[in-house]
Amino acid sequence: MRLQDKVAIVTGGGGGIGRATALRFADEGARVVVSDIHAESGEETVEQVRKMGGDAIFVKTDTANEGEMKALVEECEQHYGGLDILFNNAGVSNEEVKLADVSVEEWDRVVSINLKGVFLGMKFSIPLMEKRNGGSIVNTSSLLGFKGKKYMAPYNASKGGVITLTKNAALEYGSKNIRVNAVCPGVIDTNIVTPWREDERKWPIISKANALKRVGQPEEIANAVLFLVSDEASYVTGTSLLVDGGGLTF
Ligand SMILES: NC(=O)c1ccc[n+]([C@@H]2O[C@H](COP(=O)([O-])OP(=O)(O)OC[C@H]3O[C@@H](n4cnc5c(N)ncnc54)[C@H](O)[C@@H]3O)[C@@H](O)[C@H]2O)c1
Repeated sequence: MRLQDKVAIVTGGGGGIGRATALRFADEGARVVVSDIHAESGEETVEQVRKMGGDAIFVKTDTANEGEMKALVEECEQHYGGLDILFNNAGVSNEEVKLADVSVEEWDRVVSINLKGVFLGMKFSIPLMEKRNGGSIVNTSSLLGFKGKKYMAPYNASKGGVITLTKNAALEYGSKNIRVNAVCPGVIDTNIVTPWREDERKWPIISKANALKRVGQPEEIANAVLFLVSDEASYVTGTSLLVDGGGLTF
């Protein structure tokens, strides 16, 4: 088992990519702190981990909230005695309008959850990892961290920010044996793309706008995240791994 005796936090663990990764981590022997803003779906992930014989707890957290993110990491230390892996994954899409029509409230909501949340996760987790003389962090960016998409200004900005913040953290904490990478999914079959899926005109185009001509599954992101947090990626840090079916080539 590749994550035997490791302790991992997964934010957004009640949803598609977060849930698939929490289950993958548990399957490889990790004890998992599942965090999500929605208690019901987060608890459901914990149930699924326990059913497979794994060990997990749920902590309700809004990634945009400093106090709650601090409490999440404290709960992890209290329950499991430390932290080895952080998957900073929770995220939301934005209301799709042109930049000049984006309200300041909408900008703040999306950037706070997607980018400030990633900062807060690292801010509170890194001291715990330093205590253990190392750790591994994966931040969820997006194909849209690399390329612009119309009507996605707050999302584009937040996911681009995650890529450079990841490089910064990798640089500052490499000497402490903490590796920090980003995973950048293309179009993956989860709830976040429901508005696109329900658009009969756009979905046939969006879902095939990549070299493989299909959407990805959450498990295909989970596999990439598992690689990045595992010892197999021991010389990988500061990178942003596109898992997009060739979406950027398109
Ligand atoms: N699905 C895609 O096509 C795609 C593509 C690129 C990037 N991503 C990114 O992947 C990550 C996971 O998204 P997903 O596709 O699994 O979607 P999802 O909607 O299924 O999962 C997102 C999870 O985050 C949780 N969440 C939302 N706001 C939160 C908050 N403030 N605090 C804590 N948890 C919160 C939700 O409850 C949900 O469980 C996101 O960061 C998203 O931007 C997804």
